[in-house]
Amino acid sequence: MNLNFIAAKLQNLKDNGLYRTRVQADSGCKPLVETKGRTRLAFNSNDYLGLASDPRVIEAFKEGVSLYGVGSGASHLISGHGKAHALLEERLSQLMSPMIPNAAALYFCSGYMANLAVVTSLVSGAEEGVTIFSEELNHASIIDAIRLCKAPFVVYPHCDTQALGQMLRESKSKTKLVLTDGVFSMDGDIAPLLKLVAMCEREGAWLVVDDAHGFGVLGQHGLGALEHFGISSSHVIYMGTLGKAAGVCGAFVSAHATMIDWMIQRARPYIYTTAAPPACAHALLKSVDLITGSEGAKRREHLHNLLDQFKQQISSSQHFQYKLLESDTPIQPLVIGSNEDVLNASKSLLADGVWVSAIRAPTVPVGTARLRLTLSASHTADQVDQLTRALKRL
Ligand SMILES: Cc1ncc(COP(=O)(O)O)c(C=O)c1O
Repeated sequence: MNLNFIAAKLQNLKDNGLYRTRVQADSGCKPLVETKGRTRLAFNSNDYLGLASDPRVIEAFKEGVSLYGVGSGASHLISGHGKAHALLEERLSQLMSPMIPNAAALYFCSGYMANLAVVTSLVSGAEEGVTIFSEELNHASIIDAIRLCKAPFVVYPHCDTQALGQMLRESKSKTKLVLTDGVFSMDGDIAPLLKLVAMCEREGAWLVVDDAHGFGVLGQHGLGALEHFGISSSHVIYMGTLGKAAGVCGAFVSAHATMIDWMIQRARPYIYTTAAPPACAHALLKSVDLITGSEGAKRREHLHNLLDQFKQQISSSQHFQYKLLESDTPIQPLVIGSNEDVLNASKSLLADGVWVSAIRAPTVPVGTARLRLTLSASHTADQVDQLTRALKRL
């Protein structure tokens, strides 16, 4: 390997405003974060309900550690599958069963791995002739999953159900897999799942919904995009992450029990990795209780009030020069345009005490660099005021 070649590539990233740096947080995931010796108001985590620092979840984590220790010691199929993992999967399968007939659930170390597992195992379990139909704005983990399984794929335009319908009708494949984010991670809008499900049922296709940003946030009980739309379908394979709104780590897949059984047999990202610490699963049992109970409902209501407040404050500002994308979720993207401008905007906000992250290509299309603002139920109305005042000063 030639280090000079890599150094030149790094310099090229710097020259084009594409070099990534990490801002070190010296405190935990909360609205007020210590960084670089100052306290800053953060609007960039995916901890949408504020559960990452909830005392009840923290207590459950500690209890999990005292019950099970810190590490799982092995992969699930060797000796790492503990009681806490099993209880969490049982609870999630019960919760998802109104939306997915004969539902079972499988807990993964991360959403990234869950997506790799779902797509590769669906392809390996399919009869001859699989085609994948992937949404244009799908998350990188879905794109990597498609690359990994090497099946033929087509990309359909963002939320364009008509275009997808035509592609499905024209396809001669025996097995058709449609892959979509539930909530688009960099745009914040919600996939048209009612139409997608109806279409997949009609065309005999499977629909994989990556609801990383919907689980905990959408639906009456926080069960995500399927609950939000009142969907019940045996054609759906659902992935929800547990390190975002659920505040801990990992992810789960819920699908027909036969499908989950196949993943346990064949999904390499599930089989060939050490199981997550059982204490995480133990803490998640508490977190899932909070999400689905009255506490979750209260937090979602507060979050929606904050969203209304934020959108109203931005839209009432006549001189605000940037475009806030249309989104009813806690992801509120402010499109700035160039890499240089978005980096400058993020730096000025940081100097002003507000921490918001700049998102650039390849995470978003070239020319649409943006500030990805995320609100959380742990923010207060005053803090949202502070954010909008700082944005207006940009
Ligand atoms: C849409 C989407 N899917 C999957 C993932 C991966 O989830 P995890 O962070 O648990 O690996 C993310 C993470 O940001 C995401 O935004």
